[in-house]
Parts: sequence; structure tokens; C-alpha cells
Amino acid sequence: MALITAKNLTLAYNKREQILSHIDFEIQEGELVFITGMSGSGKSTLLKSFYGAIAPFEGSLIVSGADLSRPKKSMINTLRRNLGIVFQDYKLIKEWDIEKNIALPMIIAGYSKDVVRRQVDKLLAHVRLTHRKDRYPAELSGGEQQRAGVARALAHNPNIILADEPTGNLDDYSTELVMELFLKVNALGKTVIIVTHRMPGNINVAYRHFHLESRGMHEYT
Ligand SMILES: Nc1ncnc2c1ncn2[C@@H]1O[C@H](COP(=O)(O)OP(=O)(O)O)[C@@H](O)[C@H]1O
Ligand SMILES: [Mg+2]
Repeated sequence: MALITAKNLTLAYNKREQILSHIDFEIQEGELVFITGMSGSGKSTLLKSFYGAIAPFEGSLIVSGADLSRPKKSMINTLRRNLGIVFQDYKLIKEWDIEKNIALPMIIAGYSKDVVRRQVDKLLAHVRLTHRKDRYPAELSGGEQQRAGVARALAHNPNIILADEPTGNLDDYSTELVMELFLKVNALGKTVIIVTHRMPGNINVAYRHFHLESRGMHEYT
């Protein structure tokens, strides 16, 4: 089943400049998708459109049944419960320690304390931050904050993961760790969409690769 359907989709922040112009594509449930493109080509903007942070300027965009060309607050809230988002600038809450930051989506979803603690402990171990769990974001390196952002995105077991340059600040070791985590989640049937400035070299499962250029989108096959 199509999870994301874009028809004639145009994205723009104002009338004078289109970021992406009249693009068409479909992403199926459970797919692993990479989106590349030069800095400024519209990768983050496209991801934003998937979670309803920018509405189509023209054309239609349907994500998980939600028609984002006619967005309603309730519809976007329902959609977001199903999404795990890794932001390019992490967006961690600076007044909260890492443990609580990672727990946030589960707190919102109303999970019990025990379940939250168990899940957060597991995620902390996955992203190798157990020894940092009581620290605040400002006390962590960029790479550590990014790993915390990845853990938070996965906390509530979402069906769709949207990750904006999730390894942009990571060394090779952490990059591999995070990629492995995304592959594991994808193997469980989740749709994983990763924006990256560099394609990972060692992906041994089926994936799709879209490239943004000159306001258009091209698929490498
Ligand atoms: N909030 C905004 N308002 C106006 N223009 C923006 C905004 N965010 C991004 N842009 C512009 O949109 C273009 C694409 O940006 P972005 O999607 O962030 O690119 P990428 O993620 O591929 O580097 C850039 O020219 C950028 O300056
Ligand atoms: Mg970007």
C-alpha cells in the first residue's frame, strides 16, 4: 500500500521561489528510502512536508492517509503519533536530561513509567549513551546529541521514521551504529526515510534512492 503519494507537488516558502516544483512519487509501506541532494536543494523542506510542517504550495500530498494539502490540526496530530522524526538540529529540550528527552514521545503517548524506563534503557544502550543519561544536552557533544535524537525518534515505536541527516555529525563508528539501528527498524517492517548528503556504502538490503536537483526529483534505479 502506498504510504506517501505526491502528485504534482510543489513546495515553496513564498510565491517568488519554488523549492521543489511539480514532483511526483510514491513511497510504499515498509520501504527504506534515501534522499540526497546538494545543500539547499530542498531535502529538509521535503521532509517537513511529510510531517505537516509545510503545506503543499501546489499539488497533493497524502501521508499515511492524511491529505496534507487540506491539513487539519487533529489529522496532523494523529499522523505525528505514527512518526519518529530525527531533526537536523536535534531539537532536544535543554532543561531535560538525556533520559527524559528520549522518553518524551512515550510520555506524550501515555506509557506507564515501567515501560518507559525499560524502553529508554534499551535505546540508551543501542546508541551508547547509557553513561550520559543524566546529562543535559548542552553537556554533550554534537554527535552524542544526535544519537539521543535518534533514540528519541524510535522511543514510541513509530511506523514511519523520518531522519534529516541523522549521521551528519557522527564519526564512522557512530554512523555505522545508527545506520544499523535504522536497518533493524526497517527489517521490522517500518518505513524509514533518511536524508543524507552522502549515501552509505554498505547497504545490503533493498532500498530506494531519490536525488533532488534543480527543483526536481530523480530516482536512481
Ligand atoms: N523557513 C524558511 N523560509 C524561507 N526559505 C527557507 C526556509 N527554510 C529553508 N528555506 C530555503 O529553502 C531552500 C531549501 O532549504 P532546505 O530544504 O533546508 O535544503 P537542504 O535541507 O537540502 O539543505 C534553501 O534555499 C533555503 O534557504
Ligand atoms: Mg537540510
